Amino acid sequence: MRRVTTGSGRREPPKARRPTSKRPHLYENATQTVFGAGTRSARIMLSGEKPGDQEDLQGRPFVGPAGHLLRKALGELGIEEGSTYLTNAVKHFKFSREGPSKRRIHKAPDLHEMTACRPWLVAELKSVDPDVVVALGATAGKALLGSSFRVGEQRGILLSAPAWDELGHSIDENGTSGREPGGDQGSRSLVCTIHPSAVLRADDRKSAYAGLLSDLGVAVAALP
Ligand code: URA
Repeated sequence: MRRVTTGSGRREPPKARRPTSKRPHLYENATQTVFGAGTRSARIMLSGEKPGDQEDLQGRPFVGPAGHLLRKALGELGIEEGSTYLTNAVKHFKFSREGPSKRRIHKAPDLHEMTACRPWLVAELKSVDPDVVVALGATAGKALLGSSFRVGEQRGILLSAPAWDELGHSIDENGTSGREPGGDQGSRSLVCTIHPSAVLRADDRKSAYAGLLSDLGVAVAALP
C-alpha cells in the first residue's frame, strides 16, 4: 500500500479516496432493455453479446445486420426462425458517442456488466431449457463458461452445457471459471462460435462465414 509521511516523520496510510464520478449503469443510456425473443419451446438458443444500435431502437434482438447474417446462416442449415430463441448475454446497448456526428459506436460489455445481467440469461435458459445453446462470440462464451473462455480455442466443439442453476457460479471475481467447460451436465449441449458481426468485419468474409456455418452445423447436428 502507498504510504504518506506526516510532519512528524511518522508514516501513515493514505485516506481512502471517494470515487469522483459515478459510472452510469448501462440502462441509463440505452433506449430500452432488450430481452430475448423467440419460441418458448425452442430446442436451440443462441446468445450474442448485447443489443446493437438497431436492437436498442427496436427492442428486439438481432434485427440489425449481424442478425440478418445469422438468420441467413441458420436458414442455410435448415433452422427456421420460429424454432429458435435469440438472446444476448447483456440486455442493454453499450456505446460511446464519437466523431462530429456523435454516432453511437458500440462498446464491449465488461465483466461487471455481464455479471449484472447474468440472472436474466439464467432465467431465459431455465424457462426455455433448450437442448443446445450457441454462444456467439467471446462475451456470450464468457457469460456461459467463465471469463477464461477463448473463442479461438473452443469454437466448433460440442461441449456439455453447465447446469443452468450453476451458471451463476461460472464467473468469479478473479475472472476464472469455477468449472471446466463440458462439465457434468449430461443432456444439454453448448457450442461456441464467432459473433456474426465478426464475419461482417472480416477481410475474408467468405471464409469467416464458412467457419460460422461449420460451427453452427455442429450445434444443429447435436439437436435430438
Ligand atoms: N449483436 C449482438 O450481440 N446481439 C444483437 O442482438 C445484435 C447484435
